[in-house]
Amino acid sequence: MVERDGPDVTACERCPALVESRSRIVNGVGPDDAALLFVGEAPGANEDAEGEPFVGRSGTVLDDALRDAGLARADVRITNCVRCRPPENRDPHVEELDNCADFLEREIEFVDPDLIVTLGKVPGERLLDRSVAVTKEAGSVVDARLGGASRRVLVCLHPAATLYDRSQREAFDAAIAKAADLAGVSTDGGGGQSRLGDY
Ligand code: URA
Repeated sequence: MVERDGPDVTACERCPALVESRSRIVNGVGPDDAALLFVGEAPGANEDAEGEPFVGRSGTVLDDALRDAGLARADVRITNCVRCRPPENRDPHVEELDNCADFLEREIEFVDPDLIVTLGKVPGERLLDRSVAVTKEAGSVVDARLGGASRRVLVCLHPAATLYDRSQREAFDAAIAKAADLAGVSTDGGGGQSRLGDY
């Protein structure tokens, strides 16, 4: 088997405010050849404490939607635009997104997913390099040049949006189900590695 250098960041001091506020760097989790790559904004308090993206209430919403689409969290890769927790959970600043951009690019290139799903406005706008009306565009698929290739990107709401507004849950779940479908992963609830090519 050929070993590949992973996309994890082990040390970084590019953003002084984030170095101050983080307790650790939160790298992406999941298979390094996942068909589906989810990209969020930045770690919050729970993620900073546990060292894993989307483990708080937003993570539960995402896990539930994945399960309903026949997927387990372990089947997909989950990462963020910024790997360190911003103070008081503020949005990452543009320069912080810029500082972390090459790490995400490297992760996308390394994982080479069939489909990227942006969770919320920040990753949507970052990856598509334009303004995005997330609620209106949820579930739409566009091509973008990322990680050295043209990639399919599915726009999705941030899972936290469904906690603030229950009526968004249907659109969120529908976008995740569409992502599972487009990436050719199982919707039979069977779990396990589920690239269509595996069957
Ligand atoms: N929100 C995000 O955007 N990312 C996380 O990892 C957790 C919450």
